[in-house]
Amino acid sequence: MKIIASNFKTNHTRKTTREFVEDLDNYIKDNEVKNDVFIFPSATALDNFDTQSNLNIGAQNGYFVKNGSFTGEIGSDQIDEFGIKTILIGHSERRHIIHESQNEIAKKFNFYKALGYTIIYCVGEPLSVKEQGITQTLGYIFEQLNGIDLEYEKLIVAYEPVWAIGTGVVATAEDIAVIHKKLKKKITKPILYGGSVKPENLDEILKIDNVDGTLIGTSSWDVESFKKMIDITKNNS
Ligand code: PGA
Repeated sequence: MKIIASNFKTNHTRKTTREFVEDLDNYIKDNEVKNDVFIFPSATALDNFDTQSNLNIGAQNGYFVKNGSFTGEIGSDQIDEFGIKTILIGHSERRHIIHESQNEIAKKFNFYKALGYTIIYCVGEPLSVKEQGITQTLGYIFEQLNGIDLEYEKLIVAYEPVWAIGTGVVATAEDIAVIHKKLKKKITKPILYGGSVKPENLDEILKIDNVDGTLIGTSSWDVESFKKMIDITKNNS
């Protein structure tokens, strides 16, 4: 069954996140959705949500400590408080805007792995690398797997080309198929695609070989749009 995940990024308040989660939870129950659905709200909106067992709430980020003196960061104590056991690591905005290094990303991975978290781990190349060709692109992506245990049972990988994130430019079916096939040779875990996924292109993307689901930003922030995409996901085997 395909997976669908929504990354809220820096959107939605505590109030609108709660409304979104409650609305979605009812939708999942009423429509007997069995797919795994993930929502990653902002840190300020994390809470104890009473949801269907397949509606998982995750943290967008967490520092590799339980607690301590790391101003502005959150540690696992603060995530655990809400019974949250899912985290997004290595997202391109953290790599390229916040400038997290592969070393820090691997530290986060290993820290949250030791705590048994489900980890959605993101990789993807910027446009300048894509333009150098497939060998360079794969080399770049494989470097983003340095220090990551690809056998970890609760690992889900997301391939998100940087040039397709939030730009409205979606990778072609061929672009996606080529990378997912190569990744599948290395990784036996589910591999999601992310980057300008929307209701209009989701069905086509889910039908590409080796695509096990999607990680969606912009078009998932409106609950009606996200419900539409859950429905499309439900109808893909
Ligand atoms: P987008 O974001 O759907 O807005 O392109 C995807 C992501 O960053 O996960």
